[in-house]
Amino acid sequence: MRPLSTEASSQAEGPITPASGRFDPFDPTYVLDPYPILAGLRASEPVFFSPVVGSWVVTRFETVKAVLRDAQHYSAMLASDPLTPLCPHARSIFADAGFNVPPLLVNNDPPSHTHYRAFFGAPLQRERMQTLKPFIQETVDAYLDRLAAGPNPADLVAGLTWDVPALVLFKLLGVPAQDVQQVKNWASSRVVMTWGRPTEAEQVSLSTGAVEYYRYSQALVQQKFENPADDYLSDLIRLRADDDAQATLHEIAAIAFNLLFAGHETTSSAAANMFKALLPDRALWGKVCRGEQAAAPVVDEALRMDPPVQAWRRQAKEAVVLDGVSIPAGGRLLLAFASANHDPDQFPSPDAFIPGRRNALQQVSFGAGTHFCLGAPLARLELEVTLQRVAARLPGLALVPGQEFPYTPNTSFRALRRLMVTW
Ligand code: HEM
Repeated sequence: MRPLSTEASSQAEGPITPASGRFDPFDPTYVLDPYPILAGLRASEPVFFSPVVGSWVVTRFETVKAVLRDAQHYSAMLASDPLTPLCPHARSIFADAGFNVPPLLVNNDPPSHTHYRAFFGAPLQRERMQTLKPFIQETVDAYLDRLAAGPNPADLVAGLTWDVPALVLFKLLGVPAQDVQQVKNWASSRVVMTWGRPTEAEQVSLSTGAVEYYRYSQALVQQKFENPADDYLSDLIRLRADDDAQATLHEIAAIAFNLLFAGHETTSSAAANMFKALLPDRALWGKVCRGEQAAAPVVDEALRMDPPVQAWRRQAKEAVVLDGVSIPAGGRLLLAFASANHDPDQFPSPDAFIPGRRNALQQVSFGAGTHFCLGAPLARLELEVTLQRVAARLPGLALVPGQEFPYTPNTSFRALRRLMVTW
């Protein structure tokens, strides 16, 4: 068993080619709009080594999907390891706290992944998620009431898209609503800690927060064990039926620890990205508001167009050749979902927002294969309800012209920090 998120990814080496110097996910131009840069790279060198991230970057749709579907040759074990090695002080904070989150799902491989996925995925089925719909509607409406009563223009991220997915996930897990802010703060930090470039001081403060959250997850599961209720963690405890071979309480706490991040930061970003992509198209927005355009295809197109998870990692278990490029055994891969979703060989006119594209569901925004996102039905439901309620309540919603779009610089998440709107 190896602890999650305290393993440093030592810098790998590889051949430097023209593409190597053109790819820097921390560069402000890239952060603002990665798509033209990725299009150029995909056309010239679809697979290349990047010294900035110590990984081989894979950009073509077919190749990204083939890697995702091939658990035999590619491992997911490194998926959550920090890109920037943690400093000794931060590592000691984890060690002193006895921090131990075992690899279960996103950073695990078959055969144990297969067992855990069946166990932890069972209570996340679509039907169970649908029971959350009234809660999602009420929550979105309550936020829209507050937004509409406040100053106009306003920040849609602070006023709606940041908190709602957290509240939904807390409802699913059975976390008290008053803990929202604490956990949201911790989760936003985890993007920086794992996929960004935190300074040593930031690493120490982020590690302290992670450890606090780790303890919180353990206490929460213990509380559910003693007082089961109608929520996902209690479902797992019932399913386990006191059999550690199914899952230990420690493993259930690890899922609580990971899901709070996996489930709301992604969905918060997806919602903000959706409104940023959609609102400038006034004709389409009008159709959504008048009910002439269904919400689900808009959600799928928004996820394709500006995926919240822009890139995800795998590691070659043995030497492989991808798009004619030799990658040694152990080579780390950065699968550029943002590029794959804009590959014109798969999605004609990839930069146009076209709800109802024939092959929209082929996109890789939720991954593919054995690790395909277990929360996709919930995420889609939340995005659809949010879109429907906003369209019904604020049909005049528009982006404030001339604003800057601040993103958290990191390799994997398209996390918009502010979106100014008027109505
Ligand atoms: C728009 C929102 C979301 C996006 C874009 C997203 C994206 C992803 C991606 C890219 C993966 C990795 C897939 C791979 O390695 O092939 C993943 C895995 C996962 N996601 Fe999501 N996710 C979202 C929302 C959620 C929600 C709401 C939950 C929880 C309710 C969730 C739970 C999970 C879990 C448990 C896994 C691991 C599955 C496995 O390894 O077997 N996600 N997600």
